[in-house]
Formats: sequence, C-alpha cells, structure tokens
Amino acid sequence: MSTKLWGSRFTGTLSKLSEKFTYSISYDSKLALYDCIAGIAHAEMLGERGIIHKKDASAIVKGLNKLVDEIEAGTFKYDPSSEDIHTDIQIKLKKSIGKPADCLHTARSRNDQVVTDVRLYCLNHLENIQALLDVLQISIVKFADKNDDIIIPAYTHLQSAQVVLLAHQMLAYVEMLERDKGRFEDAARRTSVNTLGACALAGTTLLTDREIVTKKLGFAKTAANSMDAVSDRDFLIEIVAAIAITGMHLSRICEDLIIWVTSEFNFIAIDDAFCTGSSIMPHKKNPDVLELVRGTSSRFPGRLMELLVLMKGLPLTYNRDMQMDKPALFDCVETIEDMLAMMAELFGGITVKKDVVAARVQSEYFFTVDILDYLVRKGMTYRDAHDTVGVMVKECIDRGKKIADLPVEQLKRYSSLLEVDVKYLLTPEVSIKSKKSFGSTNPVLVRAQINAWKKRLK
Ligand code: ARG
Repeated sequence: MSTKLWGSRFTGTLSKLSEKFTYSISYDSKLALYDCIAGIAHAEMLGERGIIHKKDASAIVKGLNKLVDEIEAGTFKYDPSSEDIHTDIQIKLKKSIGKPADCLHTARSRNDQVVTDVRLYCLNHLENIQALLDVLQISIVKFADKNDDIIIPAYTHLQSAQVVLLAHQMLAYVEMLERDKGRFEDAARRTSVNTLGACALAGTTLLTDREIVTKKLGFAKTAANSMDAVSDRDFLIEIVAAIAITGMHLSRICEDLIIWVTSEFNFIAIDDAFCTGSSIMPHKKNPDVLELVRGTSSRFPGRLMELLVLMKGLPLTYNRDMQMDKPALFDCVETIEDMLAMMAELFGGITVKKDVVAARVQSEYFFTVDILDYLVRKGMTYRDAHDTVGVMVKECIDRGKKIADLPVEQLKRYSSLLEVDVKYLLTPEVSIKSKKSFGSTNPVLVRAQINAWKKRLK
C-alpha cells in the first residue's frame, strides 16, 4: 500500500520539498485522539447499517481503541513520514488489524473527517476554557472578599476621578470574564455540529445514518448541507474571536495591576513567584508575568486576522489552504488556557498596601460629584450645580485652600443652598456609602454582589 491515502493514481512521487511544505503531521497530531473517537463512531455506524461486515467494524473499533489507550498513556508516537494524522492513524490501524482497516474510510473523506476532528478538539477545549474562566473568577472574587473594606482611587483618562471599593473594581473584572463565558458558550453551540458523513462534499450513495454518529459523538446537531459541512470554519473563527476578546480583557487587568505595582502608585505588592529581577539594577522587581500576559494577548487579534484572511477568498468547498486553520487555532486555544491558569494563580499572590492606598483617597477633589449631587437634591439643576462647584474648586485650587476649611459664609457665597453639613461629604467612606444606584460602589451593594458571585461560582 502507498503511504499516501491517494497514491495509486500517481506514477511519480511528491518531491522532498513538496512533502516538507505540505505535510501537517507536525501540528495536526494533536487531533489523534479525536480522529480515533470519530473513526470508532463511524465504523460502528457502518456496521450497524450493514454497510461493512459487523466483524470488520468490531475489529476497527478494537484497533482504534488500542490507539486511544496509547494516546491517553502518552506512548502514541506519530510517524513524521505520514502526510497528516488521518493518514497516520489509518496506517497504524492497518498494521494492527490488517485488511478490515481498509473498510474504515467507507463513506468518509478526509474533508469531513478533519473538520469533525477539529470540532471535537474545540468542544473539549471550550470546556477547559470555561472551567479556567471559573477558576479565575473565583480567585478574583476571593481577593475582593479578603480586601472588602479597602477604598481606592478610580480613574478616567488615568486621572484621579472618584473613590470606589477595591472589590468593586475586582467585580468589574469578574463581569468581563462572565461575558467571555457567554461568548464561548455561544460559539460552542455552533461548534457542536456533526459534519462527519458529508464525505468529500456531496454526501454518499451508501445508506449511512448520520444521526447515529451525531449521537455517538455527542454533537447537538447534524450538519444539514454536505458542502457547507466540509467548507465551514466559522466556528473556529468565532472561538478565536472570543479568545481575542478574553485576551484583551486579561491584558487590561494586567495593565491596571502593572500601574498599581509601580513605585509611583505603590498600591499593591506581587509575590516573588510572579516577578523577576534586573541583570543590572539590583533594586528592581519587575512584574514580568503581568507584562507577558499583556504582551502575549497581542497574538490573538493577529491570529484572528490570519484566519479571516485565510478563509475570505476560498471558493466552496474544501481547499488545502484550510489546513492552515490549525496552527492558528491550536496556538490561541492553548495559549489562552495557560494565561487564564496563570492569572488565577497570580491573584492569590497580590497584597494590598492598605496604608498607602488609604493616604491616596484623601483629596477632596474625589468628592466634588458628591457635592454636586447634594445641590441637586436641594433643587438646583445639574448644570448650575456643576458651575457652582466648578467655581468653588477653582478658587480653592488658586488660593491653596481646602473645601473643608472654608467658613460657612464663604460657602454661602457660592450658593445659598450650601450648609455646613456639606463638609461631611468629604471623606472616602461617606462617598462610597452615599452611593445609591444599583450597580454602584455602595458597600452594601458590593457585598451583595460578592456573595452572589460566591454562590454562583461554587
Ligand atoms: N491535512 C488536511 C487539513 O488539515 C486534511 C486533508 C484533506 N486533504 C485533502 N487532500 N482533501 O486540512
């Protein structure tokens, strides 16, 4: 037998350079397990439908199960001279069970086989990714819970804006990751489609039952169009898009933490386990893990573009170009898994420098919006209140004065509605406690959110 699944039609052989250029075994060997599992379901169906002999079907199933055992035990070794993993499994099966192996490719083509394998790979890893997102969320919620009384400055334009609970910002991260889970869940629905049985592109004259295979492999649906089945790669593009968004989220979280760990901010310390030093400056402790999560996340949008460009010019149905979906997909899937696990561990190694942070939330300017709301509650329009507080803040800045030190008569000059009680608004504790709206940083609401997440993520 030729070592190619298509050798007999040819008299010549592929040049060495062509082999090197076209072979995918070095990266698609990751599909070995899924190729066997799909092969088992396919062979069983062929046997059940009487398309191949029952005893051939059981020999194939037995042979493939032996390969599954090897893959799971880590003893499976692909032969680098096989064109791809599908070829390799076929050859190994033939060596192991002999002639019955030749029946396996009945009513199947590598075109429907490869996409089915990739779908199984994706579904398996989507489960991993969801679990890792859970673990990261749990780690962040734990950190929020542990530091639930710490008030920090929050920023817009990276300029001090208002004070919030640290836990409030942490739960913002948890919300971002929850949306990521939704995107992966959504992509999983379109991934869970059985494409096996579409054959090369047109289906088959043999009386297969694709529903049997769909059920055996645990897919939610059977692809309804054989041409679409072998040419669709939307599902993996969606997954990579979702990964790119998750990567962007992780990068933003890292950016916040990198800013907080600078000696200028000095809000947090990160455990030595996640930092490295400088070869020249002995005093340095650099947040390399955070920087590399931020840096690595740049690969995902690159990979997403690669996949979109790969697919955009292809006519239906299968084209060999599509082989190149795998390096991009595998890279993204496995890298985001590492990054999620890394971030979950890292959140356990952050300590907040409470005294430093407490000293940074004292500026009265954090509370100007609270003063504005005070005037609105007394009947002033928002625009007038903004002007009033604006004039007051400007004069205080110009004269180097604090609002808390202004005598009541001075306050009255800005607005007759200002009473001495306005000065009670000028502390971080009052500022957060006085927030009323749902979703705000009010400690009672934040506590309720922490508890709700703890319950939900159990
Ligand atoms: N290795 C190919 C891929 O990854 C699958 C083989 C399909 N090849 C073919 N000539 N139809 O897409």
